[in-house]
Amino acid sequence: MESNEWNPGKLLETSGSYWKSCTLHAGVKLGIFSLIGDRPRTGQEIAEDLGGDLRGVTMLLNALSAMGLLSKKENAYANTDISKTFLKKDSPQYLGYMLLHHHHLVESWSKLDQGVLTGRPTRSRSGFNEEVVRESFLMGMFNMAMNLAPRIVPEIALSGRKHLLDLGGGPGTYAIHFCLKNPGLKATVYDLPTTRAFAEKTISRFGLSDRVDFQEGDYLEGTIQGTFDVVWLSHILHGEGPEDCQQMIGKAVSRLAPGGLILIHEFILNDEMDGPLFPAIFSLNMLLGTENGQSYSDRQIREMLAQAGVRDIRRIPVQTPNDSGIIQGRI
Ligand SMILES: C[S@@+](CC[C@H](N)C(=O)[O-])C[C@H]1O[C@@H](n2cnc3c(N)ncnc32)[C@H](O)[C@@H]1O
Repeated sequence: MESNEWNPGKLLETSGSYWKSCTLHAGVKLGIFSLIGDRPRTGQEIAEDLGGDLRGVTMLLNALSAMGLLSKKENAYANTDISKTFLKKDSPQYLGYMLLHHHHLVESWSKLDQGVLTGRPTRSRSGFNEEVVRESFLMGMFNMAMNLAPRIVPEIALSGRKHLLDLGGGPGTYAIHFCLKNPGLKATVYDLPTTRAFAEKTISRFGLSDRVDFQEGDYLEGTIQGTFDVVWLSHILHGEGPEDCQQMIGKAVSRLAPGGLILIHEFILNDEMDGPLFPAIFSLNMLLGTENGQSYSDRQIREMLAQAGVRDIRRIPVQTPNDSGIIQGRI
């Protein structure tokens, strides 16, 4: 449970905080921070570049300045250090794709009451096929994983391991970082055919095309080819219901050689399922976007692993921004 004390001010602030979210999203969506770049620009110049209404653009620029994401001097707006680092598209630490992904979720979140009553998603997977929606999802996952992997990978002992399966690995960010850290390791990224091009491009960018390959497939309906001594399931359980997760874990375990290691990385709830905050709220995001997805508790994940014949199950202590955790076991 959240420990902070509530008061009228905090209630109002929480209730209206989506205004700030939308202001930030509009700034990123319109590319304001990239347009400003490294030199201050006037509202007039920015409105002309955008082909937008001066009154509206000026209000947005002033609100972003009030939020501390721009600084205004003599009618010109400049990026702050933070916006230069995280909101300007050519920065290596650009977070804009994840913010745009959040923006694409807003409509479904505004119907949360309906989702709760019906128990059904309020957004459809078909929207996901739109290029811009899919790009922000894939690039957002990639940016988040790029940020996290260098912190997580050193905590996981893989010395002597030869071949890792990154199930639902997306662009293969974790497979790449595991291979960079463990020179004797090869990896296979298993994901839907639509992810192949992005994954192969990313793997090649890291110079790892000879050690990381891509296997197309559906982790629910399809088969996985090959035998591995490590399987890594990162942020895929939350997209499926308990039965499918059990089946997926069973399938992954069946591809492990004796002594093989399974590692699950997820937003993990406590056993009462009332915290930490991010996994609890993220579960609602899965209600709105999937048929049966949810956040799982530590106990639920351990039970699924045990049911699949996994032993020596334990939590690996890691500190991550959104309270994700890792549970490992061996067969
Ligand atoms: C939330 S992302 C996680 C990506 C990556 N593991 C990470 O932690 O950054 C979920 C991934 O699962 C993939 N995926 C979803 N449904 C799938 C399915 N039925 N079979 C295979 N992959 C699937 C998606 O394409 C996406 O890359």
